[in-house]
Amino acid sequence: MSVLRTAVSSLGVLEPEINKDSKNHAIRILGILPSVLGFWENKRGIYSQEIPIGSTEGTIAGYLLHAITGNRPTEVNRRTLDKSLILYAEHEYAASTYAARVCASTLADYYSCITTGIGTISGPLNGGANEEAIKLLLSFKDADEAERVIRQRLQEKELIMGFGHAVYADFDPRSVVIKEQALEIARNQTKFKNLYDIAEAIEHVMWEKTLFPNLDFYTAAVYHMMDINPSLFTPIFVISRSCGWAAHIMEQRETNKLVRPTAKYIGPKKRKYIPISERT
Ligand SMILES: CC(C)(COP(=O)(O)OP(=O)(O)OC[C@H]1O[C@@H](n2cnc3c(N)ncnc32)[C@H](O)[C@@H]1OP(=O)(O)O)[C@@H](O)C(=O)NCCC(=O)NCCS
Repeated sequence: MSVLRTAVSSLGVLEPEINKDSKNHAIRILGILPSVLGFWENKRGIYSQEIPIGSTEGTIAGYLLHAITGNRPTEVNRRTLDKSLILYAEHEYAASTYAARVCASTLADYYSCITTGIGTISGPLNGGANEEAIKLLLSFKDADEAERVIRQRLQEKELIMGFGHAVYADFDPRSVVIKEQALEIARNQTKFKNLYDIAEAIEHVMWEKTLFPNLDFYTAAVYHMMDINPSLFTPIFVISRSCGWAAHIMEQRETNKLVRPTAKYIGPKKRKYIPISERT
């Protein structure tokens, strides 16, 4: 996340926004970020050999997968990532979108708005949930253990990452699409059947408390099945969400009004002033 945040911020220095041409900057950022992520993985020595710059992959999903795993993606993986990028692209006033819009409302430059979005989405209660979800999924040896431990954790009022949503009350429609992809991969590659069963077992227990999987839960499973390093889960979310942020920044700019809420003071009532020299 720091790499993407810094890359976007640096772009603001190298290619500063002059004409408030949001669309061009949005396309530029969407084009650059997959390469940034792939380059960073390469430099960290993730692959056994350097991947040549560029790829003949014709889609963002295909290129991104090639760049971050070092392997040409299979058709099902390419399609799965494509769907996940579409599902992540925009989601109304998520915390990061709201933050990006607040930044845009001050008439800050495009890169500052996106940098704000990236910083905000990085927290585990927002974009970071998918990374936490895979840690959870991989911590169980089988579905029985998952079911037993999750029940126990719920009793202890523990937060289970990848479940619930601040806006959806009954279920997250995006999760249905990505769960289908998880099932398709698990059917094709039997080594992932156990992971899929663990995910379903957790989902089953959570439903008993009317808590449903959000997009991050099965996305974490499919990203793992696609051999993506968990530290890249949230950065991939960022690449996709850069489109949603772009749309919001443009909309904000079209009819701008500074976002500046007031605060309601609920502290102690008026107190007597005590000179500093008399304070203990
Ligand atoms: C997203 C989230 C912050 C929404 O929180 P929220 O708006 O407070 O959710 P709700 O009001 O529906 O919560 C109702 C109850 O369910 C509990 N709950 C909600 N999500 C839960 C979860 N993932 N695990 C366990 N309990 C959960 C709440 O603690 C609350 O319990 P209470 O009534 O005893 O206080 C919360 O569900 C969460 O932290 N989820 C895990 C992180 C995550 O997956 N984030 C990605 C979101 S896309």
